[in-house]
Amino acid sequence: DKGNYRHFMAKEIHEQPEVVARTLAHYLDMSSGRAALPFDLPVDVAKLSRLTICGCGTAYIAGLMGKYWFERFARLPVDIEIASEFRYRDPPLEPGGLTLLISQSGETADTLASLRCAKEHGQKVLSVVNVATSTIARESDIAALTLAGPEIGVASTKAFTCQLAVLACLALAIGRARGALDDAAEAKVVAELMALPGLIAEALACESRVESLAREIAKVHNVLYLGRGTSYPLALEGALKLKEISYIHAEGYAAGELKHGPIALIDEDMPVIVIAPRDAVIEKTISNMQEVAARGGRLILIGDSALARDFAAEAEAAIVMGDIAPDFSAMVYAVPIQLIAYHTAVVMGKDADQPRNLAKSVTVE
Ligand code: M6R
Repeated sequence: DKGNYRHFMAKEIHEQPEVVARTLAHYLDMSSGRAALPFDLPVDVAKLSRLTICGCGTAYIAGLMGKYWFERFARLPVDIEIASEFRYRDPPLEPGGLTLLISQSGETADTLASLRCAKEHGQKVLSVVNVATSTIARESDIAALTLAGPEIGVASTKAFTCQLAVLACLALAIGRARGALDDAAEAKVVAELMALPGLIAEALACESRVESLAREIAKVHNVLYLGRGTSYPLALEGALKLKEISYIHAEGYAAGELKHGPIALIDEDMPVIVIAPRDAVIEKTISNMQEVAARGGRLILIGDSALARDFAAEAEAAIVMGDIAPDFSAMVYAVPIQLIAYHTAVVMGKDADQPRNLAKSVTVE
């Protein structure tokens, strides 16, 4: 049931404050301000030398973002892998190590094959899945559920932000077990996580602004997304979402890579969407924005009000976000990223829920 929405995708985008809150509540103990996993991890994470993460599409992108958190909060080295590459590469995996699979459906063929490959190497497997009865959930040592509820739209939205919520909580719990995070630091991060559902709800207010931007994006053939830190995986997600449902060619890049190639694409026809939260690398992102503006690119920024004011002359459009803890800005900035893709597809008359050539669950290679 789509309720009052035209598409499941719109409904699922709007469900995010509720489902992210539900998922966080499952993995956090609000009263003590600590991560509280509802299961025991299948390995002694204090002794772990690395974590391997695998997934496809948006689930892979969630894993890429998770890497920042596992490194930051748990000081745990992470290998992040596209499942279709991992399974055929004969990766050197240590017996007794841990592989983490991410999948909304829990039925993706390459992700399932990666799980089995990890098991054959004697690894323990933990999965972040949305469907509790799925094959990946059943074959894992532990299934960490995302409580997103059924996701019907082919483009993943609420499952993505719930995957991020679970990954952040796992990083905290593992960080504590490894002695990488003291109680005060953990309580601060837990408070930042608990604020996210409210911030995601506020971010939904950018929708009418996004709708007018979408009318412009619907006229172009190419879009570039740039971001640094956790905004880099979000740039990849923005590009994936736009191509998937509007069929506009889009590329996501780490903003620092601009000079290493994609800058050659920039001209007065090229919209460049820069994801620029106020984080530790904002000054670097700002130089990339200046580079885009200096070459006549159509700068579209997603950032705070001070940034929008500073770039009022150079930017063609700005989507203004509130103040968000820098480590988790991507979970809130995901909202305008998803809405840009959705409204562009709607303006173009595409079926946002059922894009051509795509299946919700890719159970064959
Ligand atoms: O069910 P899964 O999470 O394993 O699916 C993985 C990808 O097929 C999926 O995320 C795909 O990329 C989405 N359609 C992206 O919106």
